[in-house]
Amino acid sequence: MSLVPKHIKALKPYVAGKSKSEFNRKFKGISPIKLASNENPLGPSPKSIQRVKSSLDSCNRYPDSSGFELRKKLADKYNLNINNVIIGAGSEGIMSNIMRTFLHGSDQIISSMNSFIGFRVLADASGYETTWVPMKNYSYDLDAIADQTNKKTKIIYLANPDNPTGTYFTKKEFDSFMKKVPNRVLIILDEAYYEYTEDLNDYPDSMLYRYDNIITLRTFSKAYGLAGFRVGYGFAHDDLISNLMKVKLPFEPSILAQEAALGALDDDKFLVNSIQLNLDQKYAMYDFFNSNEVNIIKSATNFITLLFTDENTNDSFCNSLLEHGIIVRNLKAFGLPNCTRVTIGTEDENEIFKQGFLKVIERVVV
Ligand SMILES: Cc1ncc(COP(=O)(O)O)c(C=O)c1O
Repeated sequence: MSLVPKHIKALKPYVAGKSKSEFNRKFKGISPIKLASNENPLGPSPKSIQRVKSSLDSCNRYPDSSGFELRKKLADKYNLNINNVIIGAGSEGIMSNIMRTFLHGSDQIISSMNSFIGFRVLADASGYETTWVPMKNYSYDLDAIADQTNKKTKIIYLANPDNPTGTYFTKKEFDSFMKKVPNRVLIILDEAYYEYTEDLNDYPDSMLYRYDNIITLRTFSKAYGLAGFRVGYGFAHDDLISNLMKVKLPFEPSILAQEAALGALDDDKFLVNSIQLNLDQKYAMYDFFNSNEVNIIKSATNFITLLFTDENTNDSFCNSLLEHGIIVRNLKAFGLPNCTRVTIGTEDENEIFKQGFLKVIERVVV
């Protein structure tokens, strides 16, 4: 008899984008650039660093378990009541909390195939039946997701924009979806890349809607540059938030993570620069891929996904770039074996990527 339930045994371990230290263990003497995990290449805001440094001395204490100061600041920024706000150890920490709080009995989950792998791992680990609906042209097929909804459906997870495709669904698509899905279904609207959608007129910012069955998730890991601190936040009806607060691990996020986030919220200039850099560099990268005849998916985020003709070409592209010290993300684990995701870096990093690309591409595309 095994102590491990079948659905846990069947899980594949999560493979994250390679870290620099992992790279250094394998390739000695090369300093790599990391374009694999959609982090902000500008680092944390100086205001975050300042706040973290000045709170190090208080780390013998537990954090305030209600996360009051950060929740209040987020509530003020979005014109909400603090009872509508939750914080957690990354938005993934909140996702995990949502699953533990609301799923029971014969509840089922629906989401999209080939979408955010972090949610896929949580859903598979939960043991609840999950329907993965195929994408249409690398985008969420909201009509098909609505059609799959049945009386056992409890949670629908939507990432908008999506990772790893970078596509987004529009206001029109979202409005029609919300009309079809009953309001007893909880919608997790994961907006991890929300800050990068500023230039899109038809993006449905979920904070401009007031549905009682939607939980909006956002994060400090991307545009705010705090991925290593692990801090995310969610907005929802106070009834949902108060129940999440009962189940949440009481002392997450850590004191330092909360301080870093508070500093980041004080630094609009850093945020604006980060978004602008990304936008400028995204268009420069589009031009580069276009002139080298590489198929890409247009992105509403801080990464671009490349489409190769087959899995072998894709594998050798990623492996050859790695040998040149450039870490990108092979999307095989996301169920997209022909695709590679490249995070948009600083101008210098992107230049290194372009040089590396030109060196390896002739070798891999025959
Ligand atoms: C769509 C999406 N949601 C959530 C996350 C995780 O965010 P966090 O670092 O806040 O857990 C990511 C990170 O890559 C993501 O791409």
